[in-house]
Amino acid sequence: MKRNPKWLLIGLAIVVVAIQLYQPERTNPPIEQARTVEAQTEISPAASAIVNRACKDCHSHQTRWPWYSFVAPVSWMVADDVEHARSHVNFSDWAQYERKDADHKLEEICEEVEKGAMPLASYQWMHAQARLSEQDVQAICAWTQAERRRLAETAGGGNTSEESHDEEDSPTHSH
Ligand code: HEC
Repeated sequence: MKRNPKWLLIGLAIVVVAIQLYQPERTNPPIEQARTVEAQTEISPAASAIVNRACKDCHSHQTRWPWYSFVAPVSWMVADDVEHARSHVNFSDWAQYERKDADHKLEEICEEVEKGAMPLASYQWMHAQARLSEQDVQAICAWTQAERRRLAETAGGGNTSEESHDEEDSPTHSH
């Protein structure tokens, strides 16, 4: 008996429709202006513009969820990227980073853009405007380096003691 390929297509269509039932959470938690990278650091207008256009869809609470983030299985990958991205670096909640953490994040930000590892390649395919020029990379690193110097200068006499460590399990959003 020969199988009718029509049934294969119908089966596939059913699977494609069925997986749409599993929608990931696409959140944009509220932002406290005072906790943002703009409020917490002396970010240059140039660097700020680059971060806004090339990083914040993943590393902030200002994600513009694209149409394909509503279509499984891509939706799962996008939501996963955003969740991971926010857990690594969150420009909307920069205040959570103590001096040492902030310094490390700044160092990594420059490294990642210099390597061309950020923004993610998959994102750049869909968002041409997120590609960084050599000048963009320089603007980012000029900011991170200046900010790291500023942090070191305001450190006030080599603080070696471990400061109390806030766990990020329970985000506090007062409004
Ligand atoms: C499409 C989403 C997306 C965009 C856009 C994006 N990132 Fe990321 N970023 C991620 C993900 C996902 C991770 C976590 C990587 C991992 O889990 O290995 C990450 C990790 C990082 C890290 C931490 C690296 C580490 O090793 O811990 C830095 C720093 C970073 N990104 C900076 C940036 C900067 C700066 C931009 C903008 C120029 C940017 N990212 C744009 C998704 C993104």
